[in-house]
Amino acid sequence: MAIEYRHEITVEDYNALRRSVGWDPIEPAQAKEGLRNSAYLICALDGDNIVGHARAISDGGYVVLISDVIVHPDYQKNGIAKTMIQELMAFFTSRLKSGQAILFNLMAAKGRESFYKQLGFTERPNETVGAGMSQRYTKA
Ligand SMILES: CC(C)(COP(=O)(O)OP(=O)(O)OC[C@H]1O[C@@H](n2cnc3c(N)ncnc32)[C@H](O)[C@@H]1OP(=O)(O)O)[C@@H](O)C(=O)NCCC(=O)NCCS
Repeated sequence: MAIEYRHEITVEDYNALRRSVGWDPIEPAQAKEGLRNSAYLICALDGDNIVGHARAISDGGYVVLISDVIVHPDYQKNGIAKTMIQELMAFFTSRLKSGQAILFNLMAAKGRESFYKQLGFTERPNETVGAGMSQRYTKA
């Protein structure tokens, strides 16, 4: 399987990929802004087909939030997500100066903790930190 990687995605492809794993699409104008303002974005292609995506939001300093890690079900278990996360992390760590640090955060989907542990992430909660938390608001 000859997978290629690039750094742009259309809103249509992004939402199609979300749907492929059972996630709700994001309202198109919001999706466009979110993709445009991401600090780093990578997607995987098989020919012209987008089969994977991951992106990161950053404060430009210490904090990075990894979001929307998705691989189309037909392409899972081929190491595509691992490659995308490694590329994403390398993008940020390669810019660090000596003595600087960076904190990668993500909300693991249920059952995906072991995947991220293999990539060096620490599961929460543990004896020192609490669980990650989130809140979703939808305007009526
Ligand atoms: C989670 C997800 C992104 C992983 O994508 P993926 O490309 O299948 O991930 P990888 O192939 O890099 O690794 C997944 C597993 O396949 C294994 N794997 C990798 N290459 C493999 C290969 N050639 N043969 C068999 N297994 C392989 C990995 O070891 C890993 O094992 P694990 O399940 O024990 O963690 C994908 O399942 C997905 O999109 N799920 C739905 C959306 C979702 O939950 N996203 C995560 C949000 S936090």
